[in-house]
Amino acid sequence: MAVSHRKMPPFPAALTITTTIVVVAAVFSSLFCSVSSYERPPPRRNLVVPRRKDLDSDSPEQVHISLVGADKMMITWITEDSAPAVVEYGSSPGLYTKLVTGSTSSYKYTFYKSGYIHAATIGPLHPDTTYYYRCSSDSARNFTFKTPPAQLPIKFVVIGDLGQTEWTKTTLENIAKSDYDVLLLPGDLSYADLIQPLWDSFGRLVEPLASQRPWMVTQGNHEIERIPVIHSQPFTAYNARWPMPFEQSSSTSNLYYSFDTAGVHVIMLGSYTDFDSNSAQYGWLVADLKKIDRSKTPWIVVLVHAPWYNSNTAHQGEKESVDMKTAMEELLYEAHVDVVFSGHVHAYERFTRVHNGEANDCAPVYITIGDGGNREGLSSKYIDPKPEISIVREASFGHGEFEVMNATNALWTWHRNDDDVAVVGDSFVFTSLSSVPACKL
Ligand SMILES: *[C@@H]1O[C@H](CO)[C@@H](O)[C@H](O)[C@H]1NC(C)=O
Ligand SMILES: *[C@@H]1O[C@H](CO)[C@@H](O)[C@H](O)[C@H]1NC(C)=O
Ligand SMILES: [Fe+2]
Repeated sequence: MAVSHRKMPPFPAALTITTTIVVVAAVFSSLFCSVSSYERPPPRRNLVVPRRKDLDSDSPEQVHISLVGADKMMITWITEDSAPAVVEYGSSPGLYTKLVTGSTSSYKYTFYKSGYIHAATIGPLHPDTTYYYRCSSDSARNFTFKTPPAQLPIKFVVIGDLGQTEWTKTTLENIAKSDYDVLLLPGDLSYADLIQPLWDSFGRLVEPLASQRPWMVTQGNHEIERIPVIHSQPFTAYNARWPMPFEQSSSTSNLYYSFDTAGVHVIMLGSYTDFDSNSAQYGWLVADLKKIDRSKTPWIVVLVHAPWYNSNTAHQGEKESVDMKTAMEELLYEAHVDVVFSGHVHAYERFTRVHNGEANDCAPVYITIGDGGNREGLSSKYIDPKPEISIVREASFGHGEFEVMNATNALWTWHRNDDDVAVVGDSFVFTSLSSVPACKL
């Protein structure tokens, strides 16, 4: 196996070695990941965001936050050298009246050893409130975030297959302009594709946004990063760097979980872990759906990486789409889930409410939003003619916003990255199925 036997040095010295290893990785990827035969526009190189030179080796970086239960936030950050896993916070600038000590972990991946990955859960916090915080007692970097509101309205940004290219940068700039509360990401984050320093680079690229609003993610195929024999454990970097609050929803895996926020029950499914009717995920989903009280959370939103409905030629017939849909579609239908967001296909597509391949007024709307801007480029070939259940489909980069107004109405908008400016390319007014008498719950 043509793997360099040198120890991976820190950035930026790792870059040349990284480039060499990219070639090796490309070979691995094409051998062990699903291969697609469709054409894509010319790929773009990954943007590499180096570690800031002015930071001390024990300074926090790659800070991101995620919701934990109704009123807590988990802060995750990385230091190059060991540093206390301490978050200090308060609701006035510079006045860090509270202190929480979390825990630290790290991981190894072939010749790479990660930095110190810290996580601390702070709270209870007030809803709709700005907090000021710092990590590892480092006064060189102060952060701020806002908690989501306790009640509707709430605004989500939804974006999949993000990656770290110039396209991604444009998408992030557009997202930064929308005053959202929570970001939902249906898989394929960094496109590090085995090159572990690119996970660090991705952490730096998203930090300005991900340290300010909760980013709730689920896994895509690019998170698996298995190399047979050499590194057989899947999801090593993903689970270490992007821990999600799975225990709070009685899940036993970071690969699927759910949470409530302001009248919305969000379910994060895992395309790349077992999903058949004997699986732990299936049993968990059945129990989770049973617990939903539509008078408290009138909306149910589901995210899953591989789309169950898709009229793009990309990723047709994969078992994560076909078999998972066969296993779980009925469960979501019977629960009257409002919308299912997925990624994987690098384009935008909105289906009508659909069940079992047919339009059905009491079924979820299916939306593919895998157009974040990763290095692989767009999936621009579609099956012709367009199936009637597909309402809008377009291969352009962009992001989605799901603004839930109240118990009955929500506005979905798809914002295309046209000439580096966000343009509304599609919109749809949702009526929650919990308020449609004909769809008996
Ligand atoms: C962070 O906050 C502390 C305490 O208010 C302050 O002394 C320091 O200058 C701030 N650092 C930055 C980079 O803003
Ligand atoms: C919900 O919001 C929509 C859109 O803003 C509005 O037209 C409708 O009257 C609201 N419904 C209730 C029950 O408040
Ligand atoms: Fe994918």
